[in-house]
Amino acid sequence: MTEPVDFDQYVGNYNQLLRDQTSFFSPSEEYFARYKVDIVRNRVRSPVQRVLEYGCGIGRNIRFLRNAFPEAEIVGSDISCASLEVARKENAGVQFLEEHNGMASPGQFDVIFVAGVFHHVPPPQRESVSKTLMDRLAPGGKVFVFEHNPYNPVTRRIVNTCPYDADAVLLKPAELKRTLKNAGMTLEKQAYCLFVPPSLPALRGLERHLGWLPLGGQYWVQACRPR
Ligand SMILES: C[S@@+](CC[C@H](N)C(=O)[O-])C[C@H]1O[C@@H](n2cnc3c(N)ncnc32)[C@H](O)[C@@H]1O
Repeated sequence: MTEPVDFDQYVGNYNQLLRDQTSFFSPSEEYFARYKVDIVRNRVRSPVQRVLEYGCGIGRNIRFLRNAFPEAEIVGSDISCASLEVARKENAGVQFLEEHNGMASPGQFDVIFVAGVFHHVPPPQRESVSKTLMDRLAPGGKVFVFEHNPYNPVTRRIVNTCPYDADAVLLKPAELKRTLKNAGMTLEKQAYCLFVPPSLPALRGLERHLGWLPLGGQYWVQACRPR
């Protein structure tokens, strides 16, 4: 079995590697963070008091989550202590927690955002991660999981050549949905995304009609904890 990637080793060049891999689609790696957070913001209607980004890495999405949910307390967590150090420096006032230490109170988050984490979790541990997410959701709270699309050959090539994806085992939407469902969540929506680069704004409107087409660069699944 492949050794797990230690993201502590990539804090210095994470953004640069991401840029190297994705600049053909967008010259700014921030685009991907804003894009995902926008999807979540547009799908959450009820008041949000607490948001968790599980597996937040160096905190690239945190600023966008703060802007999208200005009234909410934002918390980031990860297993990489060095990544969390960077995230803390760049996001004053946000609480960042090491996953190894666990989290004191369950059932407190209205929204949990998870981007690019599950493919780094060894398949036998995915059910346990899903149960952790379920435990942390407030009743009626929603989790949004973004993952690489294994059906897209360009995505597969990026993953195969990215040093910090050396341990990646991509998962199909059906597997992700099964693990969330087995953890007790209710599935609400799945869509493929990232079809149209930002350089073609006139075609951006097409994205919302293409969620069914398994050719987007990534996909996302929304699930909720029953009340
Ligand atoms: C590709 S990075 C994505 C970081 C961030 N979500 C983003 O979009 O920039 C994957 C992150 O998942 C974290 N990770 C891997 N396994 C994890 C686990 N079991 N629990 C929490 N975080 C995990 C890694 O340490 C790493 O920071």
